[in-house]
Amino acid sequence: MRTQVGIVGAGPAGLMLAHLLRLQGIESIVIEDRSREYIENRIRAGVLEHWVADLLTETGLGDRMAREGLMHGGINVAVNGELHYLDFKALTGRGIMVYGQHEVIKDMVAARLAAGGQIIFEVKNVRIEAIDTTRPVIRFTKDGKAEEIACDFIGGCDGFHGVCRPSIPDGVLTLFERSYPFGWLGILAASPPPAHELIYAYHDRGFALFSMRSPSVSRLYLQCDPEEDIALWPDERIWDELHARLGDARRARLAEGAVLQKGVTAMRSFVAEPMQYGRLYLAGDAAHIVPPTGAKGMNLAVADVVVLSRALKEFYASGRRDLLDRYSATCLRRIWKAQRFSWYMTSALHRFHGENPFDHRRQLAELDYLTSSEAAAKALAENYTGLPMERG
Ligand code: FAD
Ligand code: DHB
Repeated sequence: MRTQVGIVGAGPAGLMLAHLLRLQGIESIVIEDRSREYIENRIRAGVLEHWVADLLTETGLGDRMAREGLMHGGINVAVNGELHYLDFKALTGRGIMVYGQHEVIKDMVAARLAAGGQIIFEVKNVRIEAIDTTRPVIRFTKDGKAEEIACDFIGGCDGFHGVCRPSIPDGVLTLFERSYPFGWLGILAASPPPAHELIYAYHDRGFALFSMRSPSVSRLYLQCDPEEDIALWPDERIWDELHARLGDARRARLAEGAVLQKGVTAMRSFVAEPMQYGRLYLAGDAAHIVPPTGAKGMNLAVADVVVLSRALKEFYASGRRDLLDRYSATCLRRIWKAQRFSWYMTSALHRFHGENPFDHRRQLAELDYLTSSEAAAKALAENYTGLPMERG
């Protein structure tokens, strides 16, 4: 097989890259090690920054989101049961779109296949080779048969555990990392969310997040141990803990319902620099991970491929490599601001058990400031709804 851009991974980064390239007349082939069904049902992030929702609409992917997505004008922050509303619309003029990542994936897969684009699912033994030449190659097996894609460029969109980042020679990348002493236990439940908009709840017992996928399906998270044994969390214990951490938050009513999915997610901050080597360009989780508290993971993945697709457009139109050469530096400006924000949200809202009492008082003061100062609320709102896209 031969194409212009070979893309490894059909997550938000890989599928959006393929979509943007197609709109610019650039060919690509996407390969994915999971099945279509698996990626379309993998529950992950749920919040789209305003510009990501606009981009989906402008590029023809927004029909179902317009019908089923939930436009929110702000979020609630609960502090030990007291609810505060941060009105993003009033603070920044912008809102956010609550629409599950797996729904975005379904829309992108459907659009690509309808346009005759290729996604090769359930590939195995993926390797990338000759990335420091002008003719990189992706090798894999499909149904037991060896295949290869010869291409001009490779989009390394295969997530944190993929093969692309480790294919960069030793000594090229600098890794920046921070782990957190907790994880999130997440459930999807057949129950109406306790409030119309999200509730980020700080509680002395630990953080909880009350999100949703529709008016009748909630997505709920509890701060837990990073190695938490899910078997110790029967549904009843989860609901009890959610009730306790939501506290007496007025206007919020938590209804219980059937638990449809349950899982534990570890939390880490990670950045690999630079995000490019030869003809390989890393995008999304392949290059960086944020803790989920700021709802930035999927948004950053889309931002990376917007920058990459512009750079590839310039290359194919004029042969110029300026934007390609600046790809990593351009993306990293946004990524580090999102890292800062995700760290801030995580630090402000989680309970650090065993911490110094000074730090705990300081954290409570931080939350008091956030919920009583327009300037503090505005800074959060600006970051949460999405900073302006960098120009190449
Ligand atoms: P991914 O979505 O990981 O896509 C990579 C794709 O590559 C996958 O489909 C994978 O199957 C495929 N792949 C991997 N290896 C290979 C290979 N060798 N060959 C071919 N294909 C390969 N973010 C939030 O903001 N809020 C959240 O609540 C949240 N929850 C999350 C829960 C979980 C369990 C995880 C893992 C992530 C969560 N995130 C969340 C982060 C967010 O979902 C990611 O930032 C986003 O998916 C990044 O998109 P991506 O395309 O870069 O990577
Ligand atoms: C969701 C996940 C997040 O990490 C977040 O900050 C907000 C919402 C969600 O899954 O709905």
